[in-house]
Amino acid sequence: MTTAAEFVAVSRRFGEFTAVDALSLAIREGELTTLLGPSGCGKTTSLRMLAGYLSPTAGTIEIGGKDVTRTPPEKRGLGMVFQSYALFPHLSVADNVGYGLKLRKVSRAERARRVGEALDLVGLGHLGDRRPTKLSGGQQQRVALARAIVIRPRLLLLDEPLSNLDARLRVQMRGEIRRIQAETGLTVVLVTHDQEEALEMSDRMVVMNAGRVMQEGPPDDLFPAPANRFVAEFLGYENFLHVPARGLVTVRPELLRVRGGDGGNGGNGADATGAADGAAVPATVTSLAYRGVELRVLLDAVDATGATVPLIASVRRDTVASEDLPALLPGGRVTVSAAPEHLVPLDA
Ligand SMILES: Nc1ncnc2c1ncn2[C@@H]1O[C@H](COP(=O)(O)OP(=O)(O)OP(=O)(O)O)[C@@H](O)[C@H]1O
Ligand SMILES: [Mg+2]
Repeated sequence: MTTAAEFVAVSRRFGEFTAVDALSLAIREGELTTLLGPSGCGKTTSLRMLAGYLSPTAGTIEIGGKDVTRTPPEKRGLGMVFQSYALFPHLSVADNVGYGLKLRKVSRAERARRVGEALDLVGLGHLGDRRPTKLSGGQQQRVALARAIVIRPRLLLLDEPLSNLDARLRVQMRGEIRRIQAETGLTVVLVTHDQEEALEMSDRMVVMNAGRVMQEGPPDDLFPAPANRFVAEFLGYENFLHVPARGLVTVRPELLRVRGGDGGNGGNGADATGAADGAAVPATVTSLAYRGVELRVLLDAVDATGATVPLIASVRRDTVASEDLPALLPGGRVTVSAAPEHLVPLDA
């Protein structure tokens, strides 16, 4: 796998504050890599350093195997879509898209052809004469995308490109960006703080916190095996408890079993379902939420350290055994267990 770009121990400080802390990361050619993390974790700062709009205070940035740390943005051959689309309001859609080609002195005929192609690719072939101000948010987003890809960049950098769109359009555009990437073979780096977006779109995802990489990998590897509590919480895991011999673990709500009664063993040992090396803890139901076929059971459990921890179990209503039903009420005493293979150990 060829490396398209690389951060080598890159840091960026603003005064005393370190926004990006010794970031080392390889962006693979032809892949879509997402930088995922909470607000302020250094995503935009990293992307701006890759694009050349901001210099690192330490480390080097390589593109195509060459050190470009001191290369200005226009010489890096990248396309970028910013958090705000930054379209020119006084130019038509076609002229916005063709702007970069004009700067590069591409002939008028060639420009018209490539602008047409780029607009067709984003589904706006019919709107070239419009002003961007007369377009919807989603259409403006596509114009910004067309403008970035028309120059045939070596790397396409997208900073929260979907954050201004309504929920339905956002989901639709995820697929569109993936399709465009597949059709063009582009290498894409996408910044987002939406874990669902990252899981759905990425070949590789990089989870960041406080300027550092917490974990990286393909969504299929990362999602079932978050390395630590931060990554787990960010990916939507809600249950955290200490179990004997395993330490801190997490487990998905749909993989918890809830049985009536306290299991008759004080809760810390094996339960009747045979989760010998798993976890079986006593708990009290605090509330229930009905969600169609799914029943969300909120519980207060006592874990191996004796701490009371909130747990959420998602139970399929049609699979609840009749003897367990009476306990599934607020105040009901239950045993919560999980099979050992469903416990994900976390670094403390
Ligand atoms: N020019 C600057 N001067 C001082 N501090 C800055 C500057 N640019 C960014 N920062 C700080 O660096 C940190 C990282 O900022 P950055 O914009 O990279 O975050 P982000 O991950 O993109 O967040 P968001 O999801 O909100 O866009 C923040 O704490 C921010 O306040
Ligand atoms: Mg940002």
